[in-house]
Amino acid sequence: MKKNILYAIALAVSFVGCSRPQDKRTEIENKVETLLHKMTLEEKLGQMNQLSPWNFEELADRVRKGEVGSILNVVNSEEINKIQNIAVEESRLGIPILVSRDVIHGYKTIFPIPLGQAATFNPEVVEKGARVAAVEASADGIRWTFAPMIDVSRDPRWGRIAESCGEDPYLNAVMGTAMIKGFQGDSLNDPTAIAACAKHFVAYGASEGGKDYNSTFIPERVLRNVYLPPFKAAVDAGCATFMTSFNDNDGIPGTANKFVLKDILRDEWKFDGMVVTDWTSTAEMINHGFCTDGKDAAEKSVNAGVDMEMVSETFIKNLKQSVAEGKVSMETIDNAVRNILRLKFRLGLFENPYIVTPQSVKYAEEHLLAAKTAAEQSVILLKNDAQTLPLTDKVKTVAVVGPMADAPYEQMGTWVFDGEKEHTQTPLKAIREMYGDKVNVIFEQGLAYSRDKNTSGIAKAVNAARRADVVVCFVGEESILSGEAHSLANLDLQGAQSQLIKSLAATGKPVVTVVMAGRQLTISDEVEASDAVLYSFHPGTMGGPAIADILFGKVNPSGKTPVTFPRMTGQAPIYYAHNNTGRPANPTEMLIDEIPVEAGQTSVGCRSFYLDAGNSPLFPFGYGLSYTNFEYSDLKLASDKLTVDGEVNVSVNLKNAGKYDGTEVVQLYVQDKVGSVTRPVKELKAFQRVELKAGESKTVTFSLPVSDLAFWRYDMSYGVEAGDFKLWVGTNSAEGLSAEFSVMN
Ligand code: GLC
Repeated sequence: MKKNILYAIALAVSFVGCSRPQDKRTEIENKVETLLHKMTLEEKLGQMNQLSPWNFEELADRVRKGEVGSILNVVNSEEINKIQNIAVEESRLGIPILVSRDVIHGYKTIFPIPLGQAATFNPEVVEKGARVAAVEASADGIRWTFAPMIDVSRDPRWGRIAESCGEDPYLNAVMGTAMIKGFQGDSLNDPTAIAACAKHFVAYGASEGGKDYNSTFIPERVLRNVYLPPFKAAVDAGCATFMTSFNDNDGIPGTANKFVLKDILRDEWKFDGMVVTDWTSTAEMINHGFCTDGKDAAEKSVNAGVDMEMVSETFIKNLKQSVAEGKVSMETIDNAVRNILRLKFRLGLFENPYIVTPQSVKYAEEHLLAAKTAAEQSVILLKNDAQTLPLTDKVKTVAVVGPMADAPYEQMGTWVFDGEKEHTQTPLKAIREMYGDKVNVIFEQGLAYSRDKNTSGIAKAVNAARRADVVVCFVGEESILSGEAHSLANLDLQGAQSQLIKSLAATGKPVVTVVMAGRQLTISDEVEASDAVLYSFHPGTMGGPAIADILFGKVNPSGKTPVTFPRMTGQAPIYYAHNNTGRPANPTEMLIDEIPVEAGQTSVGCRSFYLDAGNSPLFPFGYGLSYTNFEYSDLKLASDKLTVDGEVNVSVNLKNAGKYDGTEVVQLYVQDKVGSVTRPVKELKAFQRVELKAGESKTVTFSLPVSDLAFWRYDMSYGVEAGDFKLWVGTNSAEGLSAEFSVMN
């Protein structure tokens, strides 16, 4: 009797009408409680169950019975409305279904892969891309995406580096936040808002050997200093959901890791969103040897803090028995269902369960333009000898060559379930349509696809080069070679691509190599053979027009490497924010071909480097050239004696000393020279995109709170340590103007 009175009061309160966010929150909490207390245990377990259905009628039947809380991989808007109607009108409680999909870097209009978006160092462009994706996806009823993927990724052998925002925690945090804001918009109950999902929680990017799904061995301090910060930023950005990771870290699978799922995510970070497993990752704990059977897996997963199970259905099959046995408490089930219902109320699904966004938004002109802007800013100029680029009016004939010049499907990159290659504008198409009136275009593919070992077409490509003033050769990776489960043990260009480039170079004609790939590749020889190199992490639908405008100088490239480029695969994992070690390498270490025969045991020095590859990367993190040149000067610190609650105020003069207008990504790195634990040789703490006209100068200032220099210390407390610091302001992680400062207690 008492419970009913309480619920009646709660219900009355919820209808009083609330306007302030807190009131809205209370209103939703009241609705959640009211609904929860009407649900049977079976219906609660139904909400915790996510299906990727094969048969519509079977799905309809299970929805009618209240056995389904969410679906993924259904994208037919009519089917979704039908399913929603069954859920709302025919199930006992009328709880709407949460419709989800991997909308990772676009839905129909495809943006550069996330690694390419990170290369823009432009969160506004990234936010816009996510917003476009949300508008297009919601038109098909999708209201939950499994993005952003913010796994710090430092090993290019790992195919999923393509899906990440690179190697740096700060860059992943900034870009992940931008994506969450774009996906979710100003309010989750906007019909074009789609709930974001921070994934994969946690440290999946550290998979041993870069082999996907492999174990990780990341201790708590490194978790907290490197792998967790992007996820904390996601919580701060209001990310609606989290996804557990496949990897076992220090022997504990992400899907049953109570320490991260409860102690950190819930208790420390106060996350009140919903946690979903990865695809069958609950059941896969049996393979891990962590669980004996599906029931054991379900119990360990839900007791660790998981709310919803993706596809493997161990929850719905076993947890009723687990509750009866007392192995899972009803409170645990109720808390999981609260998180699910709360999300559905926040999305406005109870008020508006059906699709309202018009189909006409797909490939809208403004969407394509946004995708072109993102692609333009994602392209990195790695080399440009003798100002080979941009192509000037002196160029009358261009030979367009290579397997990626006209590869509409490959250009979209990994994690494209709904993009259509028919809409892709390839470089060949764009160069012909946009510049065909200025130059004569000769096209010879040379190789049929990136892995092609058949060299019979190279002669024709070489012949085309001989007839041209310049050769633009498009190489890289087919889409299938990066992304989930697509790890590589060798990062050299596949097939005969390297031979193609060298054959073209042998003609003596200027060779511009454009690489379209899902990761950084070991391209030392190809860079050496080329006069200019552009790197474009699978640029998406509008990659062609973007690259064409860059080749012909309408756009000045501004992209920066979001990952470190190794010289050889064996250098991986490779990243700039490494520790110094007790024996740091010298830049001038003797390399393998310089070592005399019968060299003495210690004659080549005892320092941390590879005899055959040295210690330096091919290109450092944050690297990217411009058609103009930027000059840094006059670095100034407002004070070099700071307190913990102070700010590092630094300025530098930046001049565009060249003849092209351009944009420079000015980067601020800081080194904590001595810590209670060893600290990285430097860490990115801020960056700014600065547009300058030719000849223009500007004073660029950074105001960095000293508290941003905090880290998890020897005693596992979090804070700034007094001591000496060094900072750099510059064009990449390997060069810049520097100054030193101290922090006092
Ligand atoms: C996949 C991926 C995850 C994705 C999910 C649904 O295996 O690991 O990132 O969101 O399954 O497709």
